[in-house]
Amino acid sequence: MNLKNPKIKRPGETEGESKRFFISTYGCQMNVNDTDRMACLLEMSGYAPIPRPEMADLILINSCSIREKPVHKVRSEAGRYRKLKMNNPKLKIGVAGCVAQQERGRLLKDIPFIDFVLGTDAIDELPSLLASLEEKGAKQISVRQTPKEPYHIQTLIKNPKVSAFVNISKGCDNFCSFCVVPFTRGRERSRPLQHIVEDLRALYQRGVREVTLLGQNVNSYRSECGADFGRLLEALAVQTDIQRIRFTTSHPKDFNKELVEIMQDHRDKIMDFIHLPVQSGSTEVLRRMNRGYSREEYIEKALMILEKMPESVLSTDIIVGFPGETEEEFEETMSLLDEVPYESLFSFKYSPRPFTKAAFYENQLPESEKSRRLYALQEKHEKIAFSLARKYKGQVLSVLAEKRDKKSGLFMGRSTHNKLVYFEGVEEDLGCILPIQIQRTFPLTFYGEKVS
Ligand code: 5AD
Ligand code: SF4
Repeated sequence: MNLKNPKIKRPGETEGESKRFFISTYGCQMNVNDTDRMACLLEMSGYAPIPRPEMADLILINSCSIREKPVHKVRSEAGRYRKLKMNNPKLKIGVAGCVAQQERGRLLKDIPFIDFVLGTDAIDELPSLLASLEEKGAKQISVRQTPKEPYHIQTLIKNPKVSAFVNISKGCDNFCSFCVVPFTRGRERSRPLQHIVEDLRALYQRGVREVTLLGQNVNSYRSECGADFGRLLEALAVQTDIQRIRFTTSHPKDFNKELVEIMQDHRDKIMDFIHLPVQSGSTEVLRRMNRGYSREEYIEKALMILEKMPESVLSTDIIVGFPGETEEEFEETMSLLDEVPYESLFSFKYSPRPFTKAAFYENQLPESEKSRRLYALQEKHEKIAFSLARKYKGQVLSVLAEKRDKKSGLFMGRSTHNKLVYFEGVEEDLGCILPIQIQRTFPLTFYGEKVS
């Protein structure tokens, strides 16, 4: 499409045609879920989605500020829409997500052609904010956080697929010294247990077979009735027909034996794939990160999980180049990979974030050193991941068929351990849990064949 063409006839110019929106999404699953929610609210307000921004009447950038140059990314994406706005002054551009919450009114000054800023607690206000924008013709901002209000939302998805995300809590009280989330997502609050049960029942009625429970610190969930995360999992496994329950992200300090036992008791429904971010293999760095556990405590917990749930799979997040991280401390992170068999690893160079303690720590490492450490860690893990994946060759895994891959024509789904599995299938397979024999393995992706 030619962005410069001013003669494009836009929807909204013809009476009766609905306005169209485009949302671009950055960051974590929480943001993906927020985008679904905003899309649903917009459709309920008469907007229609379009896959590209060129013909949109409304463009929303759902931003992420967890790492490197987030404001810059928003500015450069918004910059690409500037010409669209010049050709169509009625086009509205907004910024939502964590950068919106972090930068607030500054964004309106910094990027003069954006029309509104929507904070992380203000998603439900999107329709009324757009109405005010139309009525008043003035820029709008909604970034109020509501730490004392109960967290009552219902999952909103227009056309749910086989697998859906469900928020169970929001915010974080841990204040890891590197992390901006407590500042962008506010204090931690949990949804009432019964609301989540009802949510899952309704999703099942609409064809959802698998849910991923989301929370910044999912396993510190605590309902108003006092139920903890283990009790919630138990209630969802027993009181709903959902076939598979996943969750992310767990904090190691809140993972205990009782939770593992509940997972084992309901292993037909609760998937034994656990993302357990360690962040560093050095006790001293973990202390400076304010993580609340030592290297030894973490290893003990990880091995306890693997011992009690022999089928379970672990993955992790690691930050390299944290301020003051010595070569020896980095080596402790490298050697952790020999002690805990992580099947997948997400690794990052430390990036100073606004408001966080670590941004003010001395001995910030040069980029080149952070890059060297990242590369060394990834190289080491890649070998481990390939070799761990090989054990699945020949095994028959239970795969929930999710969709047909447009490119290859193959069907795809996830195994209980969250591996992406491709296979030859038929339309009727969608939504079913199938036995697939694995033939080829890569660390995160397998190829296999249906067996009866
Ligand atoms: N720099 C680099 N990585 C970070 N993460 C969070 N904050 C930062 C930061 N300032 C990583 C952590 C976290 C993941 C979601 O992002 O590893 O678990
Ligand atoms: Fe950030 Fe730590 Fe909270 Fe995770 S637990 S969201 S890393 S502050």
